[in-house]
Amino acid sequence: MTTPFAPRHWSSRFTFLMAAVGSAVGLGNIWRFPYLAGENGGGAFILIYAATTLVIALPILISEIMLGRMGKQSPINAMKALVRENRAARFWLLIGWGGIVGAFIVLSYYSVIGGWALKYIELAVTGAFAGETEAAAAEHFSRFVGDPGSLILWQTAFLALTVIIVAGGVTSGIERAVVMLMPLLFILLAAMAAYATTMDGFGEAMHFMFAFDFSEVTPDTVLAAIGQGFFSVSIALGAMMTYGAYLDEDVSIGQSAVFIAVLDTVVALLAGVAIFPLVFSYGLEPSSGPGLTFITLPIAFGTIGSGILIGGAFFVLLSVAAVTSAISLLEPIVAWVEEGVSISRKWLALIIGALAWVAGLGTVLSFNLWSDFHPMARFGFMEKMTLFDVLDFTTANLIMPTVGLMIALFAGWVLSRPQVAEALHAGDKPWFRLWHFALRYIAPFGVISIFVANVLM
Ligand code: PHE
Repeated sequence: MTTPFAPRHWSSRFTFLMAAVGSAVGLGNIWRFPYLAGENGGGAFILIYAATTLVIALPILISEIMLGRMGKQSPINAMKALVRENRAARFWLLIGWGGIVGAFIVLSYYSVIGGWALKYIELAVTGAFAGETEAAAAEHFSRFVGDPGSLILWQTAFLALTVIIVAGGVTSGIERAVVMLMPLLFILLAAMAAYATTMDGFGEAMHFMFAFDFSEVTPDTVLAAIGQGFFSVSIALGAMMTYGAYLDEDVSIGQSAVFIAVLDTVVALLAGVAIFPLVFSYGLEPSSGPGLTFITLPIAFGTIGSGILIGGAFFVLLSVAAVTSAISLLEPIVAWVEEGVSISRKWLALIIGALAWVAGLGTVLSFNLWSDFHPMARFGFMEKMTLFDVLDFTTANLIMPTVGLMIALFAGWVLSRPQVAEALHAGDKPWFRLWHFALRYIAPFGVISIFVANVLM
C-alpha cells in the first residue's frame, strides 16, 4: 500500500520512549504538580498520587498505546478500524473524536502558558527578578498577563516552535527534537535538584514533601491526585494513541508504559525537590497555588547569588517540557487530517497551528480584557470561571475522564481477553492479570468517582 504521506514510524524504541516521556513530562509536572502538592498537604498527596497513578492512570496508558498500535492510524481512524473489526457500536468512535477535540482545546491554552515560560526565560536571564519583593513579583506577573499584546507575542513564539517540529514529520521533526531536548531537560533538572540540596531550606522542604500528614487529606485530595495523574501521563487526548500507532510490533507496551509513568513521576518529584528548598530558604509560601512558578520562584531567583543562571535554567527546563508536550497534542490532529486529504504535512501543521492560535486568543483575553467575562455564568458551579477556566475545567474534568473511562471499558470489556493478551504479547503473565483487573474494575470506578465529584456535586 502506498500512503500519500511520509511513513510515520519510530526509528527505535528509544526515540519512542523519549517522545512519550516528552509528552508526559510537561507543565503538569513542573508547574502544576508542585503547587497541587503544596496545596494538598505535601507528602500525603504525593503518596496518594503515586498510588492512584499506579492503579488508574497506568492501566489506561497501557490500553491507549495498545489501541493505537492495534489501529495503526490517528485516533479517529484507528478507532474506526477497531470498531469495524470488532463489530462494536459506533459510540466507541467517541474515543477518537473526544481525544482530537480535547487535544485541540488543550493545545490552544497550553500554548499560552507555554508562552509565559518562554517570556520568563527572558526575564530571568536579563536579571529582571533582582531584589524583587513579594508585592513586586505579583505586580510584575499581573502586568505581564494584563497585556494581551505580549501574551499573544509569546503564545505565537511557543506555537511556532511546536509547528516547526511537527511540520518536520516523525523522523526529522519529532524524533530529532526529543533526542536533543529530553537529555537537556534531565540534565537541567538534575543540576537544579542537586543545587537545591545545598540550600538551607532543603531539610524543611524534604519534610514538607515526604512527611505523611494525613490530617489534610480529604476526598478532594484523592480526586485531585487522580485528575493530575491523568493529565500528567498524557492519557485520553489521543497523544499516546498516536505515538502507539507509530510503534513497532516487537516493543513491549507494558514495560514502556511503566517506564513512562515512573519517569513522569520521578520528574514531578524532582521538580518538587528543585523548587521547595528555594521556597523554604527564603521563607516563602509553599501553598501559593498556580503562582508558585511565576510569582514565588522569581522572588527566590532574584535573591540568590546565581539567580540569573538558576532562574534561566529553570524556565528553559519549563519551556522544553512544555514544547515536547505540545507537539504530542498537535501531532494527533495533523496525523488525522493527513490521512484524509492530500495536503503536505508542512501546510497542515501550519494551518492547524494557526487555528489553535486563534482558539488560544480566548485564553489570552481571559487574563485581561475578558477577565470579567464568565461564559458559563448560568451554570452555578461555573459561575465565576473565565473562558480559560471553562476550557481547562471541561477538558480536565469532562473530556479527559470520559475518554479515559471509555478507553478502559473498550479495552477491558469490548475487546476480548485473548485479543488484548495477544496485542500486548503478554500470555497470561501475572502483570497482565493485574492490568486487566485494574482496567476492568479499578480504573472505571476511580474515573467515575472524579466525574461524579467534580460535575454533579
Ligand atoms: N502530560 C502533559 C503535562 O504534564 C500534558 C498533556 C496531556 C500532553 C495530554 C499531551 C496529552 O503537562
